[in-house]
Amino acid sequence: MRESPFFMDVITIYFALLPFLVFLSIKLAINNKIKEHIISQMMIFALTLVFVLWFEYSVRFVSGYSDFVLHTEVNKTFLTSFLLVHILIAIVTFISWFYLLVKSAKAYKNKMNFTFHKPLAIKVTLGIFTTSLMGVLIYYMLFIY
Ligand code: HEM
Repeated sequence: MRESPFFMDVITIYFALLPFLVFLSIKLAINNKIKEHIISQMMIFALTLVFVLWFEYSVRFVSGYSDFVLHTEVNKTFLTSFLLVHILIAIVTFISWFYLLVKSAKAYKNKMNFTFHKPLAIKVTLGIFTTSLMGVLIYYMLFIY
């Protein structure tokens, strides 16, 4: 176990919880509590945005990847490739999540066709799950393994 910065601990805990928050919100939709589903989705997205911005700021201006990677036993090439795949999935997921949110809000408000929602939402949920899991694994490889 190596010393990890405070922001990394808090952000990792948030991303470990994120899939459960998303599942809870989906459960609301399944139980036909649509208003609660929409409000919770917007709150989860806004909260995630705050954490992502905090993370980006801290990694750039406080302490970054090159500081952490020096101390781990994990193969550096593997770790860097894993990190790149994680970043790629994270970016695609975040943009798709925002797109889903805006398109769904608009379609719902204007009572437009909504059949796109569930298939896209399942893909976004899978993306959120994968991004969070990979993020937690990176924390594990950097500070625990
Ligand atoms: C403002 C944005 C959103 C609105 C207006 C909205 C609205 C709705 C509505 C009306 C339903 C029930 C109708 C249907 O199943 O097609 C629904 C279901 C669902 N929503 Fe959303 N939603 C929003 C955001 C999201 C997001 C961001 C996700 C995932 C990350 C999501 C995941 C789901 C899922 C998986 C279902 C299907 C639940 C089931 O199996 O019945 N929603 N949503």
